[in-house]
Amino acid sequence: MPWKLSALLLLLAWMTAMCCARDRTSLLNVCMDAKHHKVKPGPEDELHNQCTPWKKNACCSARVSRELHEDKSSLYNFSWEHCGKMEPACKRHFIQNNCLYECSPNLGPWFQEVNQKRRKERFLNVPLCKEDCLEWWEDCRTSYTCKSSWHKGWNWTSGSNECPTGTICDTFESYFPTPAALCEGIWNHDYKFTNYSRGSGRCIQMWFDSAEGNPNEEVARFYALALTAGATSHGMGPLLLSMALTLPLGLLN
Ligand SMILES: *[C@@H]1O[C@H](CO)[C@@H](O)[C@H](O)[C@H]1NC(C)=O
Ligand SMILES: *[C@@H]1O[C@H](CO)[C@@H](O)[C@H](O)[C@H]1NC(C)=O
Ligand SMILES: *[C@@H]1O[C@H](CO)[C@@H](O)[C@H](O)[C@H]1NC(C)=O
Repeated sequence: MPWKLSALLLLLAWMTAMCCARDRTSLLNVCMDAKHHKVKPGPEDELHNQCTPWKKNACCSARVSRELHEDKSSLYNFSWEHCGKMEPACKRHFIQNNCLYECSPNLGPWFQEVNQKRRKERFLNVPLCKEDCLEWWEDCRTSYTCKSSWHKGWNWTSGSNECPTGTICDTFESYFPTPAALCEGIWNHDYKFTNYSRGSGRCIQMWFDSAEGNPNEEVARFYALALTAGATSHGMGPLLLSMALTLPLGLLN
């Protein structure tokens, strides 16, 4: 009964695909499933200003890269200046954070599914290079904010985020006493503070010089390999594979 065998093989192929959909290649060179991201990464010659390091391979369009440099940009309607002027030295870190968020094709190992209107995926605990976090904190400590987690809890009645009643504007340093408190807390654990340095191959860089390529490609490969090695040794992969190999032979006899 060859049709039975084909049906069985199809079923097994499907089961294997379902179980192992997040294999190593699906974690690499991918764009997040979110409102402004491209479906697939690719070259973008016209990327704007701070996003230009991603020109050779980006998940953001030129339009998005321009928009995300603006306070209250139409992408998010989010204002960094909810407590008055933000120092330019500080603001550039938020712009760079936006560039990494919208443009990077190297964050697949940290994707998590979420059920939100503006996105189906987020990234969680991306290991940020120490210098990126220290400089972000140092340059922002004298700017002002009213909250230590920015992902929710705002008053949006005016159309952009305003400080909710009961909060006060104070320095970043008072809301984020340490660099780790800033990098981990501000966007609901998008990032994890690490002691790894830029160029170590073990941490994601928000800032890099693209003349030497994109250092985050190697970092993504390292963590993707670690993830899939862990998943295969504990997971269903080997079991399904051996079923796929032995079952049809048994049926043939
Ligand atoms: C931003 O605000 C404008 C005008 O209030 C609105 O049309 C747009 O949909 C908002 N964008 C987002 C991302 O909420
Ligand atoms: C939200 O802000 C508006 C002004 O934009 C204010 O009238 C309202 O009381 C605020 N609501 C809360 C819950 O803070
Ligand atoms: C980084 O190193 C410092 C000093 O050695 C240590 O106190 C801290 O716990 C380390 N942090 C992480 C996340 O490894």
